[in-house]
Amino acid sequence: MKLATDFLVIGSGIAGLTFALQAARHGTVALVTKREVTESATNYAQGGIATVFSQEDTFDAHVEDTLVAGAGICHEDVVRMVVEEGPKVIRNLIEWGVQFTRSGEAFDLTREGGHSQRRILHADDVTGREIERALVAAVRENPKIQLYEHHIAIDLITMSKVTHKRVKPDRCLGAHVLDIASNSVKTFRAKITLLATGGAGKVYLYTCNPDVATGDGVAMAYRAGATVANMEFMQFHPTTLYHPHAKSFLISEAVRGEGAILRRRDGTAFMEKYHKLKDLAPRDIVARAIDNEMKTHGDDCVYLDITHKDPEYVRTRFPNIYQTCLEFGLDMTKEPLPVVPAAHYLCGGVAVDMNGETDVSRLYAIGEVAFTGLHGANRLASNSLLEAAVLAGRAYKRAVEELQQNHFEFPDIPEWDAGTATDSDEMVVVSQNWDEIRRFMWNYVGIVRSDKRLERAQHRIRLIQEEIDDYYWDFTITSDLIELRNIATVAELIVKCALQRKESRGLHYTIDHLERDDVHWKKDTFLKKQF
Ligand code: SIN
Repeated sequence: MKLATDFLVIGSGIAGLTFALQAARHGTVALVTKREVTESATNYAQGGIATVFSQEDTFDAHVEDTLVAGAGICHEDVVRMVVEEGPKVIRNLIEWGVQFTRSGEAFDLTREGGHSQRRILHADDVTGREIERALVAAVRENPKIQLYEHHIAIDLITMSKVTHKRVKPDRCLGAHVLDIASNSVKTFRAKITLLATGGAGKVYLYTCNPDVATGDGVAMAYRAGATVANMEFMQFHPTTLYHPHAKSFLISEAVRGEGAILRRRDGTAFMEKYHKLKDLAPRDIVARAIDNEMKTHGDDCVYLDITHKDPEYVRTRFPNIYQTCLEFGLDMTKEPLPVVPAAHYLCGGVAVDMNGETDVSRLYAIGEVAFTGLHGANRLASNSLLEAAVLAGRAYKRAVEELQQNHFEFPDIPEWDAGTATDSDEMVVVSQNWDEIRRFMWNYVGIVRSDKRLERAQHRIRLIQEEIDDYYWDFTITSDLIELRNIATVAELIVKCALQRKESRGLHYTIDHLERDDVHWKKDTFLKKQF
């Protein structure tokens, strides 16, 4: 089936939804999402959205905190732009119906690691859920937005041009999308295509990301010829619940922001040894400290202790965390919570400019899928929802300008050709490769890396990719196969970027190059597919 739309939006977190709501003022929008519309990383964001809202705070302080966390390679112009445009986009969110927690008349501002001020707006401890609720309601009411749930993008459709005898994709015309329910492929033709597919935590064995975080946008953009950058900077959240049934449930950094202390099993508080900000040090430092304590003392986890706070305050401030932990038999007002780090946020991604434009014409990327330069080598907590909302507004304006300046037609794109593919009788290939990638990424390309471990990972990813490629062309496409192919591509890109960077900086820490090397490496890593 062929469809045509002015804007094709892939992904339904804060980035995709806020872009769609604005783009619908100018044209038709098809919003494609691979599960239910609310199933995005945004929906699980607990902490909040950082912005300068208090009299005591300044743009300069927010910029400075972001630059410090980013370990020397944030793009300062982008940081300043996002920080300064922040309050305005937050007001838009409030107009769309998002209700942030108030303390009397004013908004209640919380703190997280690396922030010198209280500047994080939140909705109790379920900020993302509240944002999704309001934005999804607005999207559902908008007749210009056609929602396609349970539709997973397979690949972008590009048009190529020949330069120096080489055929290179230079324009994006939409995407082939699998309708999971009917198992048929739809061809979406679009004047503007926006990737808002979120992150890639599922590349790692342990992650607090939802199952949808399989790096689809990064993988598709790379295959379509877009540049990707800084993929080595995967952020590990220091505190996810250590419990066999909890599936890495996040314990928000705001819990430390409100006074919780990290302790070893014997009760010793240890963060003082690692940083002057102790439990509120930047996230890379806290995650590495926990990893080190666990390895040094042979422990499976460390403990997060907020038992010294008034139990009623804890229950009211963190109702979701309190209740969820209780369901696992843990009362956080009475006992420290067992916690471990887990993959959380991809600071690299598809390289874009300040308007979310990639280097493939008519292809935009915003939110976690994109690399703007804001986060540098380590994202400051709660800057990501802010970045997504700011970039959505800018991308929308730029895309509309593009439409007004050009007359884009819908070219006659051929339908998806399944060739001689048959149904697979060996789904075990998918599950085996899926498990293998996630395990070696955790063990070899995790919090602490080495050249040898990265080379081992590179060797394995090559073998697995050969197997996936054979399988991909021989058998009928399924959403599991699409996601497997994507996590394999993302794993390849993370390893390639990590191998390039011969230093330790921010989230990239390697025992073979322990020092930060500002002479050679105060820069980003880039990758582009050769055609
Ligand atoms: C958290 O609540 O700890 C997550 C916030 C973030 O990653 O920005």
